[in-house]
Amino acid sequence: MKKVFINGYGSIGSRITSFLKDDPEITVVGIGKYSPDNKVKIAISRDLNVYVPERKLNDFSDYNISGSIESVLDECDLVIDASPGGHGYKNKKNLYEPKNIPAIYQGGESIIGDESVSDLLFNSRANYDLALGKKHVMQGSCNVTGMGRILEPLREKFGDELIRFDVTLIRRWADIEQTEKNVSDTIEMTEKPHHGDDVKLYFGKDAPLYVRAIKVPTRQMHLHIMDIRFKDIAPKPSEIHSIFENEFGVATLWTAKGTKDIRDFAQRTWLDNFTDTNMIHIHANMTTSIGDTVQMMYSDDQTGIVIPENHMLMQAMLFGKSYDDAFSHTQSIFNMNEKKQALQENFAKND
Ligand SMILES: NC(=O)c1ccc[n+]([C@@H]2O[C@H](COP(=O)([O-])OP(=O)(O)OC[C@H]3O[C@@H](n4cnc5c(N)ncnc54)[C@H](OP(=O)(O)O)[C@@H]3O)[C@@H](O)[C@H]2O)c1
Repeated sequence: MKKVFINGYGSIGSRITSFLKDDPEITVVGIGKYSPDNKVKIAISRDLNVYVPERKLNDFSDYNISGSIESVLDECDLVIDASPGGHGYKNKKNLYEPKNIPAIYQGGESIIGDESVSDLLFNSRANYDLALGKKHVMQGSCNVTGMGRILEPLREKFGDELIRFDVTLIRRWADIEQTEKNVSDTIEMTEKPHHGDDVKLYFGKDAPLYVRAIKVPTRQMHLHIMDIRFKDIAPKPSEIHSIFENEFGVATLWTAKGTKDIRDFAQRTWLDNFTDTNMIHIHANMTTSIGDTVQMMYSDDQTGIVIPENHMLMQAMLFGKSYDDAFSHTQSIFNMNEKKQALQENFAKND
């Protein structure tokens, strides 16, 4: 049994914790909190040990805290850092490296530049084996993870026939739980989005991938609009869809009018799953093939998609498992195939 500490209990940390508690190979030693708010009580009510920074112990005197983050780190085999973007790097330098503890970082960090947390950006579909034996690895962000689930199978199937990918990311403003965050009534342009460069870290630095991004006032997932250019006549939509029939974490839907339909279905169907599907959803009714180009759209469950990925990555780093062993264990915890099937049945093509 390996011991894991989750540093940060927000959108991502609370989800990772919840699934790890179901994993018989893992003991969750506790979670890290930084603000003395209601979420401390929520975590304790879920039988979690809550740890806080040494310097903040007094701020938490009204709560039944288990101790300091600095002390609990000595008891664990791996940390999953789920702090706000940029704090993961500071935690690495101040806590994990001095204590020689392996750590997983989230998509708000970087693997380029002065504040890089790792030399590997993980995507289980593209580079699982590279994480074996690593001590510090970054999990790609939700958009970066989602793009990998589409691009990698396309490349495997069509290889040199592909000329370029143009992707527009329509990003959600805030997460469902982030009720304190206002969703502004504007469409915001993102200058120099990091997503394309991040994808190229596993897809290849010279990949003909061109990404632009905007942010829109919704909490209901991201939507990617992707144009795929081929050397000659593009394949038919049915040929594109067939590639994803057996892909992990990709559901093909025909009748979802919008992203909220999918969230509502998830909420009704999996009561204990944070309204997540943990996957991307190809909106098959929107796929077209015109001349040399396939146009497609898929939505990306922003909070849910990276949770099974963290689980795969953790297994590579903690146990050195083969891809197949890690995959089947992740499948048993997340029931991804069953979720995919339920989504596809609910949003099946109308005859
Ligand atoms: N939200 C998404 O859809 C999404 C998807 C993929 C990847 N990510 C990435 O996941 C990471 C976490 O994002 P999030 O959305 O979960 O953020 P979040 O909801 O704002 O939660 C951040 C958590 O980190 C805690 N925290 C604050 N300072 C910290 C520190 N120095 N060290 C460790 N934890 C600290 C906060 O504690 P207090 O609340 O106690 O202050 C809070 O529990 C980011 O890198 C983000 O880019 C997010």
